[in-house]
This record gives sequence, structure tokens and C-alpha cells, in this order.
Amino acid sequence: MSRSKKTRIVVIGVGAVGSTTAYTLLLRSRMDELVLIDFNKPKAIGDALDMNHGLPLLGKAKVWAGNYEDCADADIIIITAGVPQRPGESRVDLLKRNVTIFESITDEVLKYNKDGILLIASNPVDIMSYFTWKKSGWPEHRVIGSGTLLDSSRLRYLIGNKLNIDSRSVHAHIIGEHGDSELAVWSLANIAGSEILLSAEEKQEIFVNTRDAAYKIIEAKGATYYAIALALDRICTAILKNEASVLNVSTFLANYHGVSDVYMGVPCVVDRSGVREVLPLQIDEDEKKLLHKSADKLKGLIKSISM
Ligand SMILES: NC(=O)c1ccc[n+]([C@@H]2O[C@H](COP(=O)([O-])OP(=O)(O)OC[C@H]3O[C@@H](n4cnc5c(N)ncnc54)[C@H](O)[C@@H]3O)[C@@H](O)[C@H]2O)c1
Repeated sequence: MSRSKKTRIVVIGVGAVGSTTAYTLLLRSRMDELVLIDFNKPKAIGDALDMNHGLPLLGKAKVWAGNYEDCADADIIIITAGVPQRPGESRVDLLKRNVTIFESITDEVLKYNKDGILLIASNPVDIMSYFTWKKSGWPEHRVIGSGTLLDSSRLRYLIGNKLNIDSRSVHAHIIGEHGDSELAVWSLANIAGSEILLSAEEKQEIFVNTRDAAYKIIEAKGATYYAIALALDRICTAILKNEASVLNVSTFLANYHGVSDVYMGVPCVVDRSGVREVLPLQIDEDEKKLLHKSADKLKGLIKSISM
């Protein structure tokens, strides 16, 4: 972790997710220096100018469109770069292209930064995080995926909305893949310790709406970016303020209910060191089976790109 006096966050890939994340971090005064890097340099320059013009109305920070050299003093490097699917392209081919992009990004970052924290949001986030961790050779606690923090937030929102309870008082987890094989841990979900009084059908409906939320939003407006930006901001805050907050991020698992050698979203204690520890949720037998299924799917994908 950099000991520079100024806190620096670098965002690589300032498309919909990256620029919204950068703006969210800026609005909440999370850092002294914010560096925007994109393959499409004019986009990064334009975003930096646009954000700088708001600083007289906001507060002190330095924002610029940078280069990989600027990763040198970064406390956190957020990667939100990605390429869209080409017509007729398979998901595995898209995955391979994204891995190639990540390979070049990771090579560049590693030239200049040895002790920061890498925070990955690009999809499939669990695979990208695993790949980046392998490629970097960094300890797993410093390579973090956004995991199922967003999905858990969606689940909590939907439960709170259904029961007319502030969603911040809803304790519920989505774990596993950030994607189709994720699962809701209903056996432990509660509102301030009280049981969630919903029927099995209502719970299933809420889960499906959580799992498939991104499809709905993408169909409506092309991309999702506000809630993921808040999730990334939440993780950055837990790191920079050494909060030891429990967040469902994607991390390396070693015998988590028998699941090993894969990155997945599970509750983790996040502090200045990154993922300080993984919390062993006491999930039930059915949930364990679903967790294993999710892990098997991710392992199959890892194999398909032969890491
Ligand atoms: N983890 C989550 O919960 C979550 C949520 C939403 C989106 N995402 C993912 O985030 C990623 C970005 O989504 P988006 O909507 O912002 O896409 P986008 O197309 O708007 O932005 C991607 C950006 O990456 C840049 N880029 C591409 N190759 C690059 C490279 N080699 N170096 C630097 N920059 C490069 C592009 O120029 C573009 O600006 C996607 O993979 C998406 O699936 C994840």
C-alpha cells in the first residue's frame, strides 16, 4: 500500500461504469487525486475536463487523464475496461478477448505499482479477478472483485421495498458468481434479527428480479452504472478508511464449504489491507449445493480460456 501523503485512485476504462464511478468518488471526496485512463484517450480527457470544471462548486481534488505511469502512487486501481460482444460472437470468445485486454492492462499496471489494491469490476468479474490475481502474482487480499455486493444491494432493496422497511436494515446476501448461477442465502436473511415474513413464491420472485436485474436495465438503457458505481465507492471507502466492513466482494476461496481455487462473491472483512478475512457463512445444505454448482460453472469458464 502506498504511503504517499495524497490518496490516489486510478480508474482504467472510463466508459459508463468507469466514469460514473469516478464521478461518485469525486462527489464523495474519497481521494486527493483521481486519474482516468482509457484506450480512448479523448474520452478520458473530456471526462477529466468536465469533472474539473465542477471543482469550484465541490471542493479540492486533482483530476486528470493519465497514463499507466500514474499508477505508481495509486492506493487503489479500479479496472472497469471492457469490450462489447460482437455480432455472432460466443461468450467464451468475448471472454478470451477481455482476458487479452486485461493481460495488457495488468502488464502496464505492474510496471509501475507493486503495493496497491486492484479492484476489478469488468465482467465476468469473478473470472477477471481470478485472472488478474494469477497474472499479477500479488497476494489475493490485494486483488478484489466487486463480486456480489451489487447483487446483495439489489436483493436488500427489493426485500425492503416489498416490506416497506429501510433497505439498510435488511441483512441478506447473494453469494457465488456475479451472474446467472448466483444464490440468495435465505436461511440467514433477516431484518434486525427478525425473520423475513415472505412466502417461498415471494422470495423466489425477489431472487429472480435480483439475479436478472442487469438484463432488464441493459434492455431499457444499454448499460448499468449508478448502483455499481456506489458499490465500488463503498469498497474504496472500506479500504481507505480501514473500516473492516463486511462486504460481499469476489475473493479467492480456499476450502469455503469445500470450494477452492476460484474467485467468488462471499462476505469478507474489507480494510486497508484489502480482504482481511473471508467470513464463513453458516449456509444450509441446499445453499451449499448451489454454491458448488456456481463454483463449477466458474471453474469451467476458467478452463475454457485455459489459464
Ligand atoms: N461488476 C459489476 O457488477 C458490473 C456492473 C456493470 C457493468 N460491469 C462491467 O463493467 C465493464 C464496463 O462496462 P461499461 O458499461 O462501462 O462499458 P463501456 O463500453 O461503456 O466502457 C468500457 C471502456 O473500456 C475502455 N477500454 C477498452 N479496452 C481498453 C483498454 N485496453 N485499456 C483501457 N480502456 C479500455 C473503452 O474505451 C470504454 O471506454 C463491462 O465488462 C461490464 O460488463 C460490471
